[in-house]
Amino acid sequence: VQIASQADVERIRREARGLAVSVGFGCADAEAIALAVSELATNLVRYAPGGEVLVAPCAQDTGTGIAICSCDGGPGISDVELALRDGYSTGGGLGSGLPAVRRLMDDFTLTTSPAGTRIEARKWLSTPSPSP
Ligand SMILES: Nc1ncnc2c1ncn2[C@@H]1O[C@H](COP(=O)(O)OP(=O)(O)OP(=O)(O)O)[C@@H](O)[C@H]1O
Ligand SMILES: [Mg+2]
Repeated sequence: VQIASQADVERIRREARGLAVSVGFGCADAEAIALAVSELATNLVRYAPGGEVLVAPCAQDTGTGIAICSCDGGPGISDVELALRDGYSTGGGLGSGLPAVRRLMDDFTLTTSPAGTRIEARKWLSTPSPSP
C-alpha cells in the first residue's frame, strides 16, 4: 500500500489489525501489530517522501505469523543505533516509534542508505503446546 498521508496511515493500520485477527492473533497482539504498522507508516509520511508498507501473512517451518515491511526512497537514517534508541528523534517526536516496533515484533531488520530505508519485521503466532 502506498503511504503518502495520515489518511493512508489510518487505513493501513485498520487493514493490518484485520489481517492479524484473520491470521489468528488475539486482540492484544493484533493491536500491537497495528501499532507497529502505524509507526512505520507515520515515519514514511514524516521523514521520507512517502513510501510503501506491505502487510502479509507469512510462514516458516516453525509456524505462521504476519510480516510487515516498509520501504521508501527517502534520505535514509544516518545513525541506526541512535534511531533505535528510545527518545531519539530528529523531528521533534517522542522518538519511541522504531524502538516500539522492535519491541512489539519478534524479528526486526533495518537496512538503510542515502537512497532509502527498508524495515522488515515479523511476529509469530505462539502455537499452543500439545496436550499430554
Ligand atoms: N523512513 C525513515 N527515513 C528516514 N529517517 C527515518 C525514517 N524512520 C525513522 N527515521 C529517523 O529515525 C528517528 C527515530 O524514529 P522514531 O519513529 O523512533 O521516532 P520519531 O518518529 O522521531 O518520534 P515518534 O515516532 O515517537 O513520534 C526519526 O526521528 C528519524 O530521524
Ligand atoms: Mg516515528
